Amino acid sequence: MKTKPIIAGNWKMHKTLTDGISFVGKIRNRILDKEKVKVIFCPPFNLLFSIVDALDGTSFGVGAQNAHHESQGAFTGEISVEMLKSMGVQYVIIGHSERRHIFGETDGWINQKIHAVFNGELIPIFCIGETLEDRQMNRTNEIIHHQIKLGLEGVETIDSERLIIAYEPVWAIGTGETASNDQVEEAHGYVKTILDDMFGHSSGEIPILYGGSVNENNAAELIQTEGVDGFLIGGASLKEDSFCSIIAQVTNYNKG
Ligand code: PGA
Repeated sequence: MKTKPIIAGNWKMHKTLTDGISFVGKIRNRILDKEKVKVIFCPPFNLLFSIVDALDGTSFGVGAQNAHHESQGAFTGEISVEMLKSMGVQYVIIGHSERRHIFGETDGWINQKIHAVFNGELIPIFCIGETLEDRQMNRTNEIIHHQIKLGLEGVETIDSERLIIAYEPVWAIGTGETASNDQVEEAHGYVKTILDDMFGHSSGEIPILYGGSVNENNAAELIQTEGVDGFLIGGASLKEDSFCSIIAQVTNYNKG
């Protein structure tokens, strides 16, 4: 692993304000080896400000789950990168499969959002991944290639130094089914090839996270898979014991 491992918890539409603050408070007290892992909490929009406040002075990161590409305007229900930044948010998940498939986000929108996040000097966690149908039709590489090329179109090499990728096969998200080590290694290797082609040398520093039913029972094996630099975790990031166990296992592996 070339970088400090990153563990990002995507809470999706879970936890009230009280639950969220109490949760990060407990995790904050339980994680001792903070230098060896970067932990990022991605709560719903309405909790962001309070979670940033609760983690003030710590090395924990806070990310949003989405952002609009315009800085302001008549976009009911949307939040801009500028607004996120003003709350102390540092990361933004862009192109999550639920945004793509439930809310119809296109590669074009995702590309605009990626640019907006870079322009706002925040860090995008850019999600890609194939559906079960894509995989069964042997189109995994084609889909990944397409999503990366379109999503990162026009991104400068200098910006790519602040990029985080999350490979999340759609069929593994929230299903309890994890991709096999070989599947993860192959996909991460392919992502790396595309990034090398787009950004040359500096692509070696772009962390590639795995996501899709990561839990305390498969984390140790997955983190040791070639090309995996950390995790984007949904369900297991909501449970204190599971999340702490995953972090401990990743920390243990990263002895450096
Ligand atoms: P999961 O979700 O860990 O519950 O599969 C991952 C994600 O959606 O990022």
